[in-house]
Amino acid sequence: MINENELVMRALEARKHAYVPYSHWAVGAALLARDGTVYEGCNIENAAYTPTNCAERTAFFKAVSEGVRDFAAIAIVGAYDTEEPEKICAPCGVCRQVMMEFCDPDTFRVILGTKDGVQVSQTLKEMLPYGFGPDVLK
Ligand code: THU
Repeated sequence: MINENELVMRALEARKHAYVPYSHWAVGAALLARDGTVYEGCNIENAAYTPTNCAERTAFFKAVSEGVRDFAAIAIVGAYDTEEPEKICAPCGVCRQVMMEFCDPDTFRVILGTKDGVQVSQTLKEMLPYGFGPDVLK
C-alpha cells in the first residue's frame, strides 16, 4: 500500500493538470481507495466562476462515478501556479462535507502536503468536528 509521502507526490502530479486561469491557485489531490487505487484530481475553474470544482471533489467524483466508495485517505497540495507548494493548503468546507458523505470520520486521513512531503495528517473528525453525515439520516 502506498504511504502518505507517496500519496502527496501523487497530489503534486495531479496539480500539474489544474485549470486555473482565474485564480491561478493550483490544487492537486490524490484520493486513496481501500483497494489501493489512487484517484487523482485537480481544480477546474470556469469563466462563470461558480461551476468551479475543487481538486478534492474532482478526485472523489472520479472514484464514486466508477463505483468506488471505500476510502482510506486523501493528500492535498496547493500553491499559485507559478510556484511549488511550500505551505499547506487546507480543504474548503464544501470538500470536507463531501468527505463526510463517503468516509469514516474516525479513520479517514486528510493529509496536507508541500513539495517536501507530508506536513499535517489528521482524521476527518479532527478536520471537521461535529460533522453532519449520512448516519444522522438513517
Ligand atoms: N481550491 C481547491 O481546489 N481546493 C481547496 O482545498 C481550496 C480551493 C480551488 C478552488 C479555486 O479553483 C481555487 O482553489 C481558489 O480558490
